[in-house]
Amino acid sequence: MSDQSIIKTGLTLAVIAAICTALVALTFQATRERIAANEKALLEQSLQPALAGTFYDSGVSESRLVLPSPHGLPGNEPAVVYRVFAEGEPVAALFAVTARDGFSGPIRILVGIAVDGTVTGVRILRHRETPGLGDKIESARSDWIFQFDGHSMGDPVATGWAIEVDGGEFDQLTGASITPRAIIKAIRDTLNYFETHQDAIFLSESSGENE
Ligand SMILES: Cc1cc2nc3c(=O)[nH]c(=O)nc-3n(C[C@H](O)[C@H](O)[C@H](O)COP(=O)(O)O)c2cc1C
Repeated sequence: MSDQSIIKTGLTLAVIAAICTALVALTFQATRERIAANEKALLEQSLQPALAGTFYDSGVSESRLVLPSPHGLPGNEPAVVYRVFAEGEPVAALFAVTARDGFSGPIRILVGIAVDGTVTGVRILRHRETPGLGDKIESARSDWIFQFDGHSMGDPVATGWAIEVDGGEFDQLTGASITPRAIIKAIRDTLNYFETHQDAIFLSESSGENE
């Protein structure tokens, strides 16, 4: 092979390599944007059930506030608050907090609270409770988690925020009372926090979409 053809082959390979690199970079960029869009849609979907009956016109995930520990909310992990607005006015807040004392460890829950202090919905985000026992806290497995809807700090009064066997007003799960105790305490502590920090929550600068 002559020197000229070696140079020609080398140049051709360099051009092909440059084109391939550019294609990979472009594909990566396009994929990353699509993944981010999908993740955002998923997040919006999981937040909406905890906002049942609430009219809002803001993007829920866009008004995200991350509160590092210690924050005064249940759990040691950072708490995440999603502020929800209608025509620019606050209507509700969603709190992702951690009930620390589940039977098998921490339980991450989402508590939706309207500005009048009533619960709009509670959903389980993450747990390791026992299948057939503590996992009935999942909305897909039983109606148990729906019983908090519409309740507030004063309804029932403090002693009522417990399972029936402890003198409270909420149903326990048969044979699994540890899991409900942890969740009820976390909901009540979140309601308590909302009552005292409501103004600051809605006035704080957003933490952006990524942790
Ligand atoms: C294998 C095993 C798994 C359990 N899983 C749970 C659970 O997920 N949640 C819970 O509250 N208790 C769980 N328990 C604990 C008991 O069932 C416990 O006695 C109960 O929480 C007390 O509830 P009770 O007052 O209704 O009897 C488990 C116990 C065993 C042996």
